Amino acid sequence: MSDDQIAVHDPHAKPATYVEADAVDRFENPGLPPHRPRRADVDEQAAKRAERQVATMFTLSILGTLGFLVCYFVVDPELRGSLLVIGEMNLYHLILGLTMAASLLFIGLGAVHWAKTLMPDTEVVEERHLQASDQESRDEAAGILSDGYRSAQLHRRPVLLLTAGGALSLFALPMALQVAGGLGPLPGDTLESTVWKRGMRLMIDPSGAPIRPEQVTQGSVIHVMPEGYVGDTHGEDAPSALEIMEAKATASVLLVKLNPEDIQSQKQLDWGVDGIVAYSKICTHVGCPVALYERQTHHLLCPCHQSTFDMTNDCEVIFGPAKRPLPQLPIMVENGYLVAADGFAEPVGPSYWERG
Ligand code: FES
Repeated sequence: MSDDQIAVHDPHAKPATYVEADAVDRFENPGLPPHRPRRADVDEQAAKRAERQVATMFTLSILGTLGFLVCYFVVDPELRGSLLVIGEMNLYHLILGLTMAASLLFIGLGAVHWAKTLMPDTEVVEERHLQASDQESRDEAAGILSDGYRSAQLHRRPVLLLTAGGALSLFALPMALQVAGGLGPLPGDTLESTVWKRGMRLMIDPSGAPIRPEQVTQGSVIHVMPEGYVGDTHGEDAPSALEIMEAKATASVLLVKLNPEDIQSQKQLDWGVDGIVAYSKICTHVGCPVALYERQTHHLLCPCHQSTFDMTNDCEVIFGPAKRPLPQLPIMVENGYLVAADGFAEPVGPSYWERG
């Protein structure tokens, strides 16, 4: 509408969506576009070529699956190496991932290519019919299905059937292995102990500096790691990146100085140094780092599900879903620095499995 036109409301006008019943007949049914056969439909050579391509893709999928199985059973799960850009990583997991990706990818590519080049692609019009089907209709449907089977020429393409069947049936094996044993080594007894041992110095995380008792002021919280696993971790005897990660996940400790008079447990006093106590930072619920310390109440809070531990009473659980107190690390002073008097006396971290 131009600027000098005025819109006038006509009360007798039909709504814009109104369509007269006979208007439908005024439009001609355009029908389906003419079917254009593909190359493989008219050229037997092209069909053979497409068949070979699809079979190659399924074969690559089979090789991917076999590669996965070989890697799973033969390669050392601790195999590590340096990759350009990514840096050092676990090659075992990388190979498992790549072979499984190839196994999946080539099944998908083979199926798509098969459908696009060799499966019948003629357009089909199916008229609406009553829901209930009589015996005659069922026979007809069965006839259509067998016609489809024949027109797909599956009986003429045994290589495709074989390779597709092989790819699909072998592909189930990694899944079964995954369900049976997981994609990595079982934890064994690695969850039962940490790297802490007698005489190991407590180091500030992340600087890696040792700690003198007089540095720990009342009410302060220091995040601590075992000596050798924080700060400068290079050198011949240095732990690997994986070992450092494992230590971070299991051996992290919180160091807090309490007023000795507030401490209610003799064991807690004995395992500390003048009110300085060290507790595992790994929540006994499902393993989040417990990192919030309330100075007034001496409560330690886990931010994940709000488990609360009483630092003045052996870190007992006073609220939340955790079922065990945080384990205490016994400490002492050696050459003026805080060191571990021993490892943890019990497993750290979540307690949802039987610990015996
Ligand atoms: S992980 Fe700490 S409360 Fe759930």
